[in-house]
Amino acid sequence: MQKGTSYSLGLETHPVPMAMFRENRERLIARFEKSAEGTPEGSVVLLRGGKAKMRHETDHEHLFRQESFFHWTFGVADPDCFGAIDLKRRRAILFIPRLPAEYAVWMGKIASCEDYTARYEVEETYYVDEIDAVLSKLNTKIIYTLHGLNSDSGNYAKPATFPGIEKYRVDNGRLWPEMVECRVIKTPMELDVLRYVCRVSSEAHVAVMKQCKPGMMEYQLEALFQHEVYSRGGCRHVAYTCICGSGHHGSILHYGHAGAPNDKQLADGDLMLLDMGGEYQCYGADITCSYPANGRFTEKQKVVYNTVLAAQQAVFAAMKPGVAWMDMHALAYRTTLQELARHGLVKGDVDAMMDADLGAVFMPHGLGHFLGIDTHDVGGYSTGAERSTRPGFRSLRANRSLEAGMVLTVEPGVYFIDPLLDKAIADDKQKQFINVDKVNEFRGIGGVRLEDDVIVTADGIENMTKCPRTVEEIEAIMAEGRKSH
Ligand code: GLY
Ligand code: MN
Ligand code: MN
Repeated sequence: MQKGTSYSLGLETHPVPMAMFRENRERLIARFEKSAEGTPEGSVVLLRGGKAKMRHETDHEHLFRQESFFHWTFGVADPDCFGAIDLKRRRAILFIPRLPAEYAVWMGKIASCEDYTARYEVEETYYVDEIDAVLSKLNTKIIYTLHGLNSDSGNYAKPATFPGIEKYRVDNGRLWPEMVECRVIKTPMELDVLRYVCRVSSEAHVAVMKQCKPGMMEYQLEALFQHEVYSRGGCRHVAYTCICGSGHHGSILHYGHAGAPNDKQLADGDLMLLDMGGEYQCYGADITCSYPANGRFTEKQKVVYNTVLAAQQAVFAAMKPGVAWMDMHALAYRTTLQELARHGLVKGDVDAMMDADLGAVFMPHGLGHFLGIDTHDVGGYSTGAERSTRPGFRSLRANRSLEAGMVLTVEPGVYFIDPLLDKAIADDKQKQFINVDKVNEFRGIGGVRLEDDVIVTADGIENMTKCPRTVEEIEAIMAEGRKSH
């Protein structure tokens, strides 16, 4: 799997240089050095990697996926490791589990500490049971561990610990904000991995689009996508559970979960909403395509589709460093409402509609989020920005100004969600803007979301997603698919 100084899965898969992780560590050290407290004598960062997990109480081991902060720092694939950075000496030290010799029968040759040192280009490797002895030999005085709130999940990172840690001064406050800020801005090497996984995922979406037809089951589209990203792109994992909604399922925002497992048959006339992204070396794509199952848009489907496309394009045109993400969310609402008004679904003054939060009736989720090692990548609120209380705006996973090197999804949508429409039609502030008869004609159509993954550049954006986006492009690709399948 590992070849010299880079990771790839052979064939055409992207080689990820181990130097990418060294650069990440260097950036973290530089942030510590620049801050007021600097890097005191004997200061060490200590991170805990992810733990192997079993299926409930059984001995069936889940396929491991590394913890994201640990992956960013060391790129190590295996579970149950620790890693340290000696901040003054600028040395990286891995700690690996000491496995019994008989594991070799089940797991293959057990790699030595030297193997790890060479494979991951760190300075030294020891066993986990040696952390105390090694840190003590380094004259460690202060250990920085990771503790902080993930603003998407509401969960806290679990700081590293080991028997004997009480002998040291432990600071679990400094590391999290520094690492989060490093992760928010991607390096050129990280951007190359993201470009790769977005390309592979875009190609897989196109392959699915070409094969999609009425009579198929939703899960067959999920299966095709997973096959494409893995067999062509080396993505053993997808970045999140595939959402493959047909017809009204397109309006169920997290459709595809265990209780609703993409198990409907596609009907002629259904509109599809497919939100799927591959994950390569822990970096993910998050892409949504919407199109008719039979390859031809109806007039109503075109209205919804082109409304969302207009919102996405308005946001693309406005994105650049310095722009507030909250303003982009508002721009998506404004464009959506203007387009819906043009087609007679809503009526009245758009400013008044904005004041009445009408946009959130049609798009109750946020416009987009940071993307990287996590699909909802960290840092959306790390500068202390407040979460809005307004419908729709409060669902934003990021509330910051854009900076070059940030990677975000841009994912406007329009959905016809019965409980939200019923509530709006019963609401004194909102009902005046809704053409109820016209809106009722669209109920059951599901929804459209267009989700692309973009890099903020010095003066705008680079769109890493390469999927057909106009009605004409989609119909042409689907017609081509029908010839070959
Ligand atoms: N697929 C999850 C999201 O779009 O945020
Ligand atoms: Mn997303
Ligand atoms: Mn998505």
